[in-house]
Amino acid sequence: NRLMNPATNLVLVGPMGAGKTCVGRWLAERFGLRMVDADKEIERVAGASINTIFECEGESGFRTRERTTIATLLGDDGLVLSTGGGAVLDADNRRLLRERGFVVHLHVGVEQQLERLARDRSRPLLARGDREDVLRTLAAQRAPLYAEVADLVFDTNDYSSTEAAARLAQEL
Ligand code: S3P
Repeated sequence: NRLMNPATNLVLVGPMGAGKTCVGRWLAERFGLRMVDADKEIERVAGASINTIFECEGESGFRTRERTTIATLLGDDGLVLSTGGGAVLDADNRRLLRERGFVVHLHVGVEQQLERLARDRSRPLLARGDREDVLRTLAAQRAPLYAEVADLVFDTNDYSSTEAAARLAQEL
């Protein structure tokens, strides 16, 4: 627990398919923290799926909901917070994530993302064009933002989510 101290929350950032939700669940059990998934909370509050929110309110509507949800969730302590891949786009989010948590950037390369997300239909951004192009563009745009917030970078390319969580736990 050395590195996490004195931060009160463990925050997971990183692109789609990095394993944030699964790694987060595992770490929450391991450290006796409460797992919260920002995207799940957005869907719960809206009473609609992320796909529906994007369709009806556009990406900007989704980002507004995301900012509010993250701010609300981080009012608490003792969380593992898994964020959506684009949470770092917003400067207020970036500042808050850093202030309120120890931030781990779960890294994954585009090849791995394509494999892990092959059957996924729940990410509206992937429907915007050729998946590989979309993922490469997002990775390039967001790399500096993940770097800005990360206290620790962990590469999940070669690991299952449980393996990644076990190894990550040893670094915290
Ligand atoms: C997004 C990632 C998704 C979700 C939404 C937008 C993004 O979360 O928030 O589809 O902008 O990268 P995951 O990273 O959990 O897939």
